[in-house]
Amino acid sequence: MVCFEIEPFAESVFVEVEPILRSAMDGHNVCVFAYGQTGTGKTFTMDGSNEQPGIIPRALEELFRQSSVDNSSSFTFSMSMLEVYMGNLRDLLAPRLCNKAYEPMSKCNLNIQTDPKGFIEVEGLSEVPISDYAKARWWYNKGKRFRSTSWTNVNEASSRSHCLTRINIFRHGDGLEARREVSRLWMVDLGGSERLLKTGAKGLTMDEGRAINLSLSALADVIAALKRKRCHVPYRQVFC
Ligand SMILES: Nc1ncnc2c1ncn2[C@@H]1O[C@H](COP(=O)(O)OP(=O)(O)OP(=O)(O)O)[C@@H](O)[C@H]1O
Ligand SMILES: [Mg+2]
Repeated sequence: MVCFEIEPFAESVFVEVEPILRSAMDGHNVCVFAYGQTGTGKTFTMDGSNEQPGIIPRALEELFRQSSVDNSSSFTFSMSMLEVYMGNLRDLLAPRLCNKAYEPMSKCNLNIQTDPKGFIEVEGLSEVPISDYAKARWWYNKGKRFRSTSWTNVNEASSRSHCLTRINIFRHGDGLEARREVSRLWMVDLGGSERLLKTGAKGLTMDEGRAINLSLSALADVIAALKRKRCHVPYRQVFC
Protein backbone atom coordinates (compact mmCIF):
# COMPACT_ATOMS: atom_id res chain seq x y z
CA MET A 1 0.00 0.00 0.00
CA VAL A 2 1.31 3.48 -0.92
CA CYS A 3 0.02 6.41 1.15
CA PHE A 4 0.10 10.09 0.20
CA GLU A 5 -0.39 11.80 3.53
CA ILE A 6 -0.49 15.50 2.80
CA GLU A 7 0.08 15.95 -0.87
CA PRO A 8 -2.78 17.06 -3.06
CA PHE A 9 -2.98 15.71 -6.59
CA ALA A 10 0.31 16.11 -8.40
CA GLU A 11 2.26 14.43 -11.17
CA SER A 12 4.10 12.39 -8.53
CA VAL A 13 0.84 10.76 -7.39
CA PHE A 14 0.05 9.46 -10.86
CA VAL A 15 3.60 8.16 -11.25
CA GLU A 16 2.86 5.87 -8.28
CA VAL A 17 -0.45 4.76 -9.80
CA GLU A 18 0.93 3.79 -13.23
CA PRO A 19 2.52 0.48 -12.10
CA ILE A 20 -0.77 -0.41 -10.39
CA LEU A 21 -2.54 0.01 -13.74
CA ARG A 22 0.07 -2.19 -15.41
CA SER A 23 -0.59 -4.79 -12.74
CA ALA A 24 -4.35 -4.62 -13.44
CA MET A 25 -3.66 -5.07 -17.18
CA ASP A 26 -1.51 -8.11 -16.28
CA GLY A 27 -4.53 -9.76 -14.66
CA HIS A 28 -4.42 -8.68 -11.02
CA ASN A 29 -7.34 -7.19 -9.10
CA VAL A 30 -6.24 -3.85 -7.69
CA CYS A 31 -7.72 -0.96 -5.76
CA VAL A 32 -6.67 2.68 -5.42
CA PHE A 33 -8.49 4.76 -2.83
CA ALA A 34 -8.32 8.28 -1.45
CA TYR A 35 -8.70 8.45 2.32
CA GLY A 36 -8.55 11.41 4.70
CA GLN A 37 -10.38 14.17 6.51
CA THR A 38 -13.12 16.17 4.87
CA GLY A 39 -11.91 19.00 2.66
CA THR A 40 -8.38 17.65 2.23
CA GLY A 41 -8.63 17.10 -1.55
CA LYS A 42 -9.64 13.44 -2.01
CA THR A 43 -12.21 14.14 -4.71
CA PHE A 44 -9.86 16.60 -6.35
CA THR A 45 -7.12 13.95 -6.33
CA MET A 46 -9.34 11.22 -7.80
CA ASP A 47 -11.41 13.34 -10.17
CA GLY A 48 -9.50 16.62 -10.66
CA SER A 49 -10.65 19.45 -12.89
CA ASN A 50 -10.70 20.10 -16.64
CA GLU A 51 -7.28 21.73 -16.39
CA GLN A 52 -5.83 19.15 -13.99
CA PRO A 53 -7.46 15.76 -14.55
CA GLY A 54 -7.25 13.49 -11.50
CA ILE A 55 -6.32 9.85 -11.09
CA ILE A 56 -9.54 8.37 -12.53
CA PRO A 57 -9.62 10.20 -15.89
CA ARG A 58 -5.89 9.78 -16.27
CA ALA A 59 -6.09 6.09 -15.42
CA LEU A 60 -8.82 5.60 -18.03
CA GLU A 61 -6.67 7.30 -20.64
CA GLU A 62 -3.64 5.24 -19.63
CA LEU A 63 -5.54 1.92 -19.82
CA PHE A 64 -6.51 2.60 -23.43
CA ARG A 65 -2.98 3.79 -24.22
CA GLN A 66 -1.43 0.65 -22.73
CA SER A 67 -3.91 -1.63 -24.50
CA SER A 68 -3.08 -0.02 -27.85
CA VAL A 69 0.67 -0.72 -27.51
CA ASP A 70 0.39 -4.25 -26.09
CA ASN A 71 0.97 -6.68 -28.98
CA SER A 72 0.73 -9.88 -26.95
CA SER A 73 -2.95 -9.56 -25.99
CA SER A 74 -6.07 -7.69 -26.93
CA PHE A 75 -8.20 -5.94 -24.32
CA THR A 76 -11.79 -4.90 -23.86
CA PHE A 77 -13.14 -2.88 -20.94
CA SER A 78 -16.38 -2.25 -19.11
CA MET A 79 -17.27 0.14 -16.31
CA SER A 80 -19.54 0.24 -13.27
CA MET A 81 -19.98 3.03 -10.74
CA LEU A 82 -21.66 2.91 -7.38
CA GLU A 83 -21.80 4.86 -4.16
CA VAL A 84 -22.16 3.72 -0.57
CA TYR A 85 -24.63 6.21 0.84
CA MET A 86 -25.85 5.91 4.45
CA GLY A 87 -25.10 2.19 4.44
CA ASN A 88 -26.84 1.50 1.08
CA LEU A 89 -25.34 0.70 -2.29
CA ARG A 90 -26.56 2.88 -5.17
CA ASP A 91 -25.93 2.23 -8.83
CA LEU A 92 -24.69 5.51 -10.37
CA LEU A 93 -25.00 4.26 -13.97
CA ALA A 94 -28.52 2.90 -13.65
CA PRO A 95 -30.96 4.24 -16.26
CA ARG A 96 -33.09 7.17 -15.11
CA LEU A 97 -36.16 8.81 -16.50
CA CYS A 98 -34.23 12.03 -16.98
CA ASN A 99 -30.69 13.22 -16.33
CA LYS A 100 -31.43 15.08 -13.09
CA ALA A 101 -29.57 14.28 -9.88
CA TYR A 102 -32.81 14.32 -7.86
CA GLU A 103 -34.56 11.86 -10.17
CA PRO A 104 -35.19 8.65 -8.21
CA MET A 105 -32.85 5.87 -9.19
CA SER A 106 -34.09 2.60 -10.52
CA LYS A 107 -31.40 0.72 -8.66
CA CYS A 108 -30.59 1.62 -5.09
CA ASN A 109 -29.94 -0.52 -2.07
CA LEU A 110 -28.24 -3.25 -4.10
CA ASN A 111 -27.10 -6.47 -2.45
CA ILE A 112 -23.61 -7.88 -2.27
CA GLN A 113 -23.35 -11.58 -3.11
CA THR A 114 -20.53 -14.07 -3.07
CA ASP A 115 -20.43 -16.32 -6.14
CA PRO A 116 -19.53 -20.07 -5.97
CA LYS A 117 -15.86 -19.25 -6.62
CA GLY A 118 -15.80 -16.86 -3.67
CA PHE A 119 -15.79 -13.68 -5.79
CA ILE A 120 -17.75 -10.71 -4.55
CA GLU A 121 -20.52 -9.48 -6.87
CA VAL A 122 -22.94 -6.58 -6.52
CA GLU A 123 -26.25 -7.99 -7.66
CA GLY A 124 -27.83 -6.13 -10.58
CA LEU A 125 -25.09 -3.48 -10.82
CA SER A 126 -25.03 -1.79 -14.26
CA GLU A 127 -21.98 -2.57 -16.34
CA VAL A 128 -21.40 -0.61 -19.54
CA PRO A 129 -18.91 -1.49 -22.27
CA ILE A 130 -16.33 1.24 -22.85
CA SER A 131 -14.77 1.00 -26.28
CA ASP A 132 -12.48 4.03 -26.07
CA TYR A 133 -11.40 6.85 -23.78
CA ALA A 134 -14.11 9.25 -24.97
CA LYS A 135 -16.83 6.72 -24.14
CA ALA A 136 -15.23 5.98 -20.78
CA ARG A 137 -15.14 9.70 -19.91
CA TRP A 138 -18.77 10.10 -20.98
CA TRP A 139 -19.94 7.34 -18.64
CA TYR A 140 -17.69 8.47 -15.82
CA ASN A 141 -18.99 12.05 -16.07
CA LYS A 142 -22.54 10.75 -16.13
CA GLY A 143 -22.01 8.63 -13.00
CA LYS A 144 -20.27 11.30 -10.97
CA ARG A 145 -23.11 13.77 -11.66
CA PHE A 146 -25.42 11.62 -9.56
CA ARG A 147 -23.10 11.32 -6.60
CA SER A 148 -24.36 12.80 -3.32
CA THR A 149 -22.69 16.05 -2.26
CA SER A 150 -23.60 18.78 0.23
CA TRP A 151 -22.37 22.09 1.49
CA THR A 152 -20.62 22.12 4.88
CA ASN A 153 -18.53 24.73 6.75
CA VAL A 154 -15.39 22.87 5.61
CA ASN A 155 -16.20 22.03 1.99
CA GLU A 156 -18.84 23.56 -0.24
CA ALA A 157 -19.14 20.34 -2.27
CA SER A 158 -18.46 17.72 0.37
CA SER A 159 -18.89 14.10 -0.76
CA ARG A 160 -21.65 12.50 1.32
CA SER A 161 -20.89 8.97 0.19
CA HIS A 162 -18.04 6.69 -0.83
CA CYS A 163 -17.85 6.53 -4.62
CA LEU A 164 -16.47 3.40 -6.32
CA THR A 165 -15.53 3.25 -9.99
CA ARG A 166 -14.88 -0.28 -11.21
CA ILE A 167 -13.17 -1.08 -14.49
CA ASN A 168 -13.42 -4.68 -15.68
CA ILE A 169 -10.44 -5.54 -17.83
CA PHE A 170 -10.94 -8.46 -20.24
CA ARG A 171 -7.72 -9.76 -21.65
CA HIS A 172 -7.81 -12.02 -24.69
CA GLY A 173 -4.57 -13.78 -25.55
CA ASP A 174 -3.81 -14.84 -29.12
CA GLY A 175 -3.15 -18.38 -30.33
CA LEU A 176 -5.07 -21.60 -29.90
CA GLU A 177 -4.43 -21.86 -26.16
CA ALA A 178 -5.76 -18.36 -25.63
CA ARG A 179 -7.95 -17.86 -22.57
CA ARG A 180 -9.97 -14.88 -21.59
CA GLU A 181 -8.88 -13.40 -18.27
CA VAL A 182 -10.79 -10.84 -16.27
CA SER A 183 -9.30 -8.48 -13.74
CA ARG A 184 -10.72 -5.52 -11.91
CA LEU A 185 -9.45 -2.05 -11.20
CA TRP A 186 -11.31 -0.28 -8.40
CA MET A 187 -10.83 3.46 -7.93
CA VAL A 188 -12.46 4.78 -4.79
CA ASP A 189 -13.09 8.31 -3.57
CA LEU A 190 -14.03 7.85 0.08
CA GLY A 191 -16.15 10.29 2.03
CA GLY A 192 -14.01 12.22 4.52
CA SER A 193 -13.87 11.72 8.25
CA GLU A 194 -15.41 14.75 9.90
CA ARG A 195 -15.96 16.47 13.23
CA LEU A 196 -19.52 17.65 13.37
CA LEU A 197 -18.53 20.71 15.42
CA LYS A 198 -16.18 21.77 12.62
CA THR A 199 -18.45 21.05 9.65
CA GLY A 200 -21.50 22.59 11.33
CA ALA A 201 -23.57 19.82 9.74
CA LYS A 202 -27.21 19.57 10.75
CA GLY A 203 -30.15 17.31 9.89
CA LEU A 204 -29.53 14.98 6.95
CA THR A 205 -25.98 16.31 6.39
CA MET A 206 -25.18 15.44 10.02
CA ASP A 207 -26.62 11.91 9.60
CA GLU A 208 -24.55 11.50 6.42
CA GLY A 209 -21.42 12.60 8.33
CA ARG A 210 -22.13 10.07 11.07
CA ALA A 211 -22.63 7.28 8.52
CA ILE A 212 -19.33 8.21 6.83
CA ASN A 213 -17.43 8.22 10.15
CA LEU A 214 -18.94 4.88 11.13
CA SER A 215 -18.09 3.20 7.82
CA LEU A 216 -14.53 4.61 7.83
CA SER A 217 -13.99 3.10 11.24
CA ALA A 218 -15.36 -0.23 9.88
CA LEU A 219 -12.93 0.09 6.94
CA ALA A 220 -10.07 0.58 9.42
CA ASP A 221 -11.16 -2.68 11.15
CA VAL A 222 -11.14 -4.48 7.76
CA ILE A 223 -7.65 -3.24 6.92
CA ALA A 224 -6.36 -4.14 10.40
CA ALA A 225 -7.82 -7.67 10.10
CA LEU A 226 -6.26 -8.13 6.63
CA LYS A 227 -2.91 -6.87 7.86
CA ARG A 228 -2.95 -9.26 10.81
CA LYS A 229 -4.14 -12.08 8.51
CA ARG A 230 -7.15 -12.73 10.75
CA CYS A 231 -9.42 -15.57 9.67
CA HIS A 232 -12.49 -13.33 10.05
CA VAL A 233 -12.45 -10.05 8.11
CA PRO A 234 -15.51 -7.92 9.02
CA TYR A 235 -16.32 -6.76 5.46
CA ARG A 236 -20.06 -6.48 5.94
CA GLN A 237 -19.76 -4.30 9.04
CA VAL A 238 -19.32 -1.34 6.65
CA PHE A 239 -22.97 -1.66 5.62
CA CYS A 240 -24.46 -2.08 9.09
N1 LIG B 1 -4.67 20.43 -5.41
C1 LIG B 1 -5.72 21.25 -5.42
N2 LIG B 1 -5.73 22.33 -6.24
C2 LIG B 1 -6.78 23.16 -6.28
N3 LIG B 1 -7.90 23.01 -5.54
C3 LIG B 1 -7.94 21.95 -4.72
C4 LIG B 1 -6.87 21.02 -4.61
N4 LIG B 1 -7.21 20.06 -3.71
C5 LIG B 1 -8.45 20.39 -3.28
N5 LIG B 1 -8.88 21.52 -3.86
C6 LIG B 1 -10.15 22.20 -3.62
O1 LIG B 1 -10.42 22.09 -2.23
C7 LIG B 1 -11.80 21.84 -2.01
C8 LIG B 1 -11.98 20.56 -1.21
O2 LIG B 1 -11.47 19.49 -1.96
P1 LIG B 1 -12.24 18.11 -2.12
O3 LIG B 1 -13.68 18.31 -2.40
O4 LIG B 1 -11.45 17.31 -3.10
O5 LIG B 1 -12.06 17.53 -0.65
P2 LIG B 1 -12.48 16.10 -0.10
O6 LIG B 1 -11.29 15.56 0.64
O7 LIG B 1 -13.03 15.26 -1.19
O8 LIG B 1 -13.61 16.48 0.95
P3 LIG B 1 -14.88 15.61 1.42
O9 LIG B 1 -14.33 14.52 2.28
O10 LIG B 1 -15.71 16.58 2.19
O11 LIG B 1 -15.56 15.12 0.20
C9 LIG B 1 -12.45 21.78 -3.38
O12 LIG B 1 -13.00 23.03 -3.70
C10 LIG B 1 -11.29 21.48 -4.31
O13 LIG B 1 -11.51 21.96 -5.63
MG1 LIG C 1 -14.87 14.43 -1.61
